[in-house]
Amino acid sequence: MEKYVVFGGNRLEGTIRVSGSKNASLPILAACLLNGQTNIIHGIPKLRDIMVMQEVLGYLGARVDWDGDAMLIDTERVEPFEISEELMRRMRASNLVLGPLLSRFGKVKVSYPGGCQIGSRPMDLHIKGLQALGAKITEKYGYITAEARELIGTEIHLDMPSVGATENIMMAAVCAKGQTVIRNAAREPEIVDLQNFLNAIGASVKGAGSDMIKINGVKYLNPGRHTVIPDRIEAGTHMIAAAITGGDVQIVNVIPEHLEPVTAKMREAGINIEVGVDSIHVRGGKRPKAVDIKTMPYPGFPTDMQPQMMALMCTAEGTSIITETVFENRYKHVAELRRMGADSRVEGQSAIVKGVERLSGACVEATDLRAGAALVLAALAAENGTVIENIMHIERGYERLDAKYSALGARIIRVHS
Ligand code: UD1
Repeated sequence: MEKYVVFGGNRLEGTIRVSGSKNASLPILAACLLNGQTNIIHGIPKLRDIMVMQEVLGYLGARVDWDGDAMLIDTERVEPFEISEELMRRMRASNLVLGPLLSRFGKVKVSYPGGCQIGSRPMDLHIKGLQALGAKITEKYGYITAEARELIGTEIHLDMPSVGATENIMMAAVCAKGQTVIRNAAREPEIVDLQNFLNAIGASVKGAGSDMIKINGVKYLNPGRHTVIPDRIEAGTHMIAAAITGGDVQIVNVIPEHLEPVTAKMREAGINIEVGVDSIHVRGGKRPKAVDIKTMPYPGFPTDMQPQMMALMCTAEGTSIITETVFENRYKHVAELRRMGADSRVEGQSAIVKGVERLSGACVEATDLRAGAALVLAALAAENGTVIENIMHIERGYERLDAKYSALGARIIRVHS
């Protein structure tokens, strides 16, 4: 099992480059199943979750090759085999094949994803959306089967703006007959990137980025080429790394607009942030002020930045109230941060964090991806050494975080035990 050993206390200084977005890459890779041709996607990060999606595509019969940072995906020979529990358990986002396989083959069977570390994460909105398009859904023995002779465009109102449900419905509707309108759609930048890829392969999708997406069904799709957007959550994590170490870091390959909710909160906490065209410069220095945070769907403060922001608040002056509204169980990092000397506790839907002057190194465990990132950040600022176990969770979503932070002056090593 791999772990990180971090010796805290060094200021991070220099320039760091953000990789392509994991959460944009995953639906785009799934969407490659739609056209049965060869697509070339640039900027895909080499992460564990991407490897799982590559395995899913390969298992379905796709040919996947890497050429530098570009992935060539040939889905001509794909067949709609069922996605096993084993693959679904390794990554919930495997469920993104539902929409494209249903669209192309009229049939798809995937194992039910079940619970995960950050909450129950049901599939009801995905299912309701596909049903509205005319699919017959059966849920039996832990599997969801969707079948349709023909998908027909319709109006779908999502009960909540689920990212995955919006993406699955968009992909299912691309070749449906007539127009599909998704209301209360998720507005995340990754949805816009999926729209751009779908349009690059000949689909007709408009409105992504707003809460209403319109998809006009097309008969044929062509092969396409696309570059995924930079990862806003990775960029946000680096912004906190700079602030929590009192560092001076230029973060490049970012779309600053995607980070506005994070930038605004960090500025409120007194952090000096300069925004360029495709870069963000963060200068830490004095101790941050405590600010309250409430996670919301985009353009609200992202739930995927809540644990990292909590790490920063653990060292802030004053008391901060952090409220998680997207996932019910996303506080596993609170107990781990307490092991590092944080004064934090969960009360109902909120965490109350009283900043301490200095965290201290401890042996902690990454319970999920962003919780793990929060521990790395806390460790960078802590006194003495910290051992972070189970970093496979961190590697699901960060490309060589140890190397990137070492290059900025951090003392972090990856060890195998
Ligand atoms: C995506 C992101 C994840 C991020 C999340 C919220 C990917 C691969 N993952 O996850 O990193 O944390 O968006 O920004 O892009 N829900 C239902 N029924 C459903 C679907 C969702 O009730 O059918 C609920 C979930 O339990 C959760 C909320 O909706 O409380 C948001 O989930 P959703 O937006 O669907 O997240 P994911 O797409 O799974």
